[in-house]
Amino acid sequence: MLRGNKELWLAFLAMILITGLYGLVVLFTREVPPASELFGHGIGIVGFIFMLMTETLYSLRKRSRSVRWGRMSTWLQLHIFTGLVGPYMVLLHTSWKFNGLAGITTLFTVIIVISGFIGRYIFTRIPRTLDGLEIEGTLSQESLKQARRLMALWHTIHIPIGMALFVSAFVHIGAALYYATLLK
Ligand code: HEM
Ligand code: HEM
Repeated sequence: MLRGNKELWLAFLAMILITGLYGLVVLFTREVPPASELFGHGIGIVGFIFMLMTETLYSLRKRSRSVRWGRMSTWLQLHIFTGLVGPYMVLLHTSWKFNGLAGITTLFTVIIVISGFIGRYIFTRIPRTLDGLEIEGTLSQESLKQARRLMALWHTIHIPIGMALFVSAFVHIGAALYYATLLK
């Protein structure tokens, strides 16, 4: 499961294209796109939708007993792709200002992405089928046990960070829409 780095390369490519688009907007408008105007706002919304997909889709597929669409490895690849491209778009949305709660939300976002890379590293140490089931592999029994324990520990850290991120993101979105959009 998760052989190669295809999803990382695709995410990298998408980020280069998005950077190009961002560069064009900067060039034409001669300013850093403000978070509350068309481009900055739009890229924040699309990025946030990607992040919501990251938070929900893989977990739903993992726990679904009735629906068995697609391989788990493909869902995890999609998780990683949207989990990188979404936060990158949100980063471009910030207009490089990190005040107050919005700044804290950005910090949570950065932390979850770094944590994701650590999780990906541990995850790929455990030999699995393409559908995510653990199999006997090249690891010795003892280091397999260790990798499993590490993965469980990682889950207990990664999941609450994700929740804190979405709580603060929803408060930011509510407040930003109220103060910066509706009251304008
Ligand atoms: C995890 C997702 C998000 C993060 C990390 C984030 C972060 C930020 C940051 C750092 C700023 C700049 C704050 C400052 O001026 O110091 C900002 C501004 C803003 N954000 Fe977000 N944002 C996110 C999602 C969204 C979404 C989905 C929306 C809209 C539906 C949104 C609406 C706004 C608006 C309107 C502003 C401008 C506020 C103003 O000009 O005072 N944000 N955001
Ligand atoms: C917006 C960013 C992200 C969010 C909100 C997020 C959220 C989550 C959540 C909630 C889970 C638990 C899934 C479950 O067991 O039900 C998870 C698992 C995982 N995530 Fe992320 N993640 C993000 C980004 C990333 C990134 C960038 C990577 C890799 C570079 C990554 C790699 C993983 C891995 C390997 C797992 C474990 C899969 C498993 O044990 O079945 N995540 N993530």
